[in-house]
Amino acid sequence: MMSLIEAPALVNLGFKIYKIIMNSDYTQQIKRAAEWLSQKTEHRPKLGIVLGSGLSEVADGFRGVDIPYRDIPGFPVSTVSGHKGMMRITPEVMIMIGRVHYYEGWALTDVVLPLFVMHAFGVKKLIITNAAGAVTPQLKPASLVLIRDHINLMGTNPFIGANDPELGPRFFDMTRVWDHEMRIQAQEVARAQLSKRYPLPEGVYAALPGPNYETPAEIRMLQVLGADLVGMSTVPEALAAAYLNMKALGISCVTNLGAGLSQGPLNHEEVVEVGKIVERDMQTLIQGLVARLQ
Ligand code: HPA
Repeated sequence: MMSLIEAPALVNLGFKIYKIIMNSDYTQQIKRAAEWLSQKTEHRPKLGIVLGSGLSEVADGFRGVDIPYRDIPGFPVSTVSGHKGMMRITPEVMIMIGRVHYYEGWALTDVVLPLFVMHAFGVKKLIITNAAGAVTPQLKPASLVLIRDHINLMGTNPFIGANDPELGPRFFDMTRVWDHEMRIQAQEVARAQLSKRYPLPEGVYAALPGPNYETPAEIRMLQVLGADLVGMSTVPEALAAAYLNMKALGISCVTNLGAGLSQGPLNHEEVVEVGKIVERDMQTLIQGLVARLQ
């Protein structure tokens, strides 16, 4: 007869085994997608780029092999307008044109899966872009801002659960998650090629789960917390970059002032539209960086 004390221990053991099986499934999923991609092209870029809302045309300057996410085994596919959902692999870069978000209902492990796949494919450095609201009123819409640090206010994390040491460490450092050297290189490109934007402002990005934009009180709270920018992405990806020991540069495109800092209500069309205004400059910056980071 099983005692009442043993029953929870057994349930716990079952749960642990389940998590380990799920985890090795994740490792398999990554390997399968990376191997599948490696058969589609001879290119083996060392740099990865993630393009956010309204920024997909930044990829136009790069020629390579296009692979829709829906064709890649196990890849999550975005449902948000302004997000194309395609991987472009060129000799220099692996570009994610669009990403999936937590607010779409994806688990954060799915949100970061493409980064694990890029890593397995050989990518060592990342440029992560997004559309963001300004928390600091000095940051005007249509500014490009380099992410110096971030605050995770999503209330969750892709690394909760059993850890597979084959992929990365249980506890990992976040002190230098946003690479200083890459920020210097971005400033040098801006000085040479985008002089009217030089020096690019730098700031702290706070990630909330979304999908709503913030309340004015939440924007004031974010100011108190030391955030300069707010958005609904990027931080899970930065966590994956740190876990996988990849260097990361973050570039936010400020599409609007945070709620309550301007008169009007916020909407997604405005976010995508302002994204379009700075797309050309974002493209110049990223092309300059790609040339430098080789
Ligand atoms: N808040 C959150 N996410 C955003 C915003 C915003 O104001 N603008 C673009 N993405």
